[in-house]
Amino acid sequence: MTESCGILIKGGKVVNEDCSVISDVYIKNGKIISVGQNLQIPVGVRVIDATNKLVIPGGIDTHTHMELAFMGTKAVDDFHVGTKAALAGGTTMILDFVIPQKGRSLLDAYNSWREMADPKVCCDYSLHVAVTWWGDKVKTEMETLAKEKGVNSFKMFMAYKDVFMLKDSELYAAFAWCKELGAVAQVHAENGDLIAEGARKMLSLGITGPEGHELCRPEEVEAEATQRAITIAHAVNCPLYVVHVMSKSAAKVVSNARRNGRVVFGEPIAAGLGTDGTNYWHKEWAHAAGFVMGPPLRPDPSTPGFLMDLLANDDLSVTGTDNCTFSVCQKALGKDDFTKIPNGVNGVEDRMSIIWEKGVHSGKMDENRFVAVTSSNAAKIFNFYPQKGRIAQNSDADVVIWDPKMKRSISAKTHHQAVDYNIFEGMECHGVPLITISRGKVVYDDGQLQVSPGHGTFIHRQPFSEFVYKRIKQRDQVRTPTAVIRKPYEGKVISV
Ligand code: URP
Ligand code: ZN
Ligand code: ZN
Repeated sequence: MTESCGILIKGGKVVNEDCSVISDVYIKNGKIISVGQNLQIPVGVRVIDATNKLVIPGGIDTHTHMELAFMGTKAVDDFHVGTKAALAGGTTMILDFVIPQKGRSLLDAYNSWREMADPKVCCDYSLHVAVTWWGDKVKTEMETLAKEKGVNSFKMFMAYKDVFMLKDSELYAAFAWCKELGAVAQVHAENGDLIAEGARKMLSLGITGPEGHELCRPEEVEAEATQRAITIAHAVNCPLYVVHVMSKSAAKVVSNARRNGRVVFGEPIAAGLGTDGTNYWHKEWAHAAGFVMGPPLRPDPSTPGFLMDLLANDDLSVTGTDNCTFSVCQKALGKDDFTKIPNGVNGVEDRMSIIWEKGVHSGKMDENRFVAVTSSNAAKIFNFYPQKGRIAQNSDADVVIWDPKMKRSISAKTHHQAVDYNIFEGMECHGVPLITISRGKVVYDDGQLQVSPGHGTFIHRQPFSEFVYKRIKQRDQVRTPTAVIRKPYEGKVISV
């Protein structure tokens, strides 16, 4: 029996975002060939018994920063280790961010990300591109990226003043251009000016530890920027995707905007759903620093549960991780000044289990919503559905055999990531990936990884995702303001 003859997954419960059915799944040459009961397949096929297990689409992590050079150092999970860890956790695709320095070419940055990632990735991946400055060259390069390079999402930073931040008029121009190109505008929503002022204030008060990171940028700093981004995007009828929604206030802003008919999507991340910002007040510096990321985790301990409720009820739409890992000795760059602690946390390996535990096991969402928020909604928004995010004929064979009852304990001692701690240390989770199949190959089975760098491929994404743009196009047609037809004014006009 070899996998080249195909794989038959027998007797499992196939879970898609809209329904669950007991079915067999036959996979060959990297694709799902058929889904149905009692499938008759050729001899020599590897048979996997999935009785009492779920067969789900491989997870899609919408937000990673593998080997990102950032704040004077480089994230330790590279595209090889990071994607291996993803597979071990049941994630079969990541979307990473190209982040050019201010003033540098977006295309050059994209090319160097491809050169870095292509030979290393163990699962499929795609790239968002950050717009860190504005000008005609940026516009031209965004067009090339959207039309020729498979990029249909661009992220703008409202934080990281003087580094990546755009001002409002630049956001307006960038959103308007995203809309022309049929791309999804993404924002890191925090008020960068207020963060800079707040950081100065905390340091002047003698607060140099990780708690200063949260104190200098409280919830309203995130909520204000989120509201501002939604307002600007609405002014140009551009769909908006808010990355890493970390606070109750920002989540409420997204939720209200959706209820008011805005085309906006909110992305909570594993860290925000699984843990909280009380850790910044931990007495051990290294522990507290390990949780530093922007926007920060929130000290209100009801935040993770609140974000999960909104995710379960479609106020928030998808989940990523913002996986951007720095080991303790890298975090220590900021041992005397919290503004120098490299920002970022882990999550790529644990996201699926965290969401199962806090979302499904807790009774907040069902298995179908789990699939929606861990894969299919991402595939719809970023326009590669049903190639991915669905167990169906002709879809890519990115499949996970998921044991909803089995438990595992998260620990840096056993995780596959390069980082030397884990923000979810000691957490017990129901929901374990038993087998992960990527592009038709069993890459993780019974705790063992069998991967090769370069196995994954770059997924090209077309602009104008229907899921996002159908409403936008219709609004353009029917909501364009028109002038009132009047008789000309014929009375007196004062002379000036
Ligand atoms: O702290 C974070 N989030 N680090 C990665 C960069 C970003 O803002 O996403
Ligand atoms: Zn960010
Ligand atoms: Zn990020």
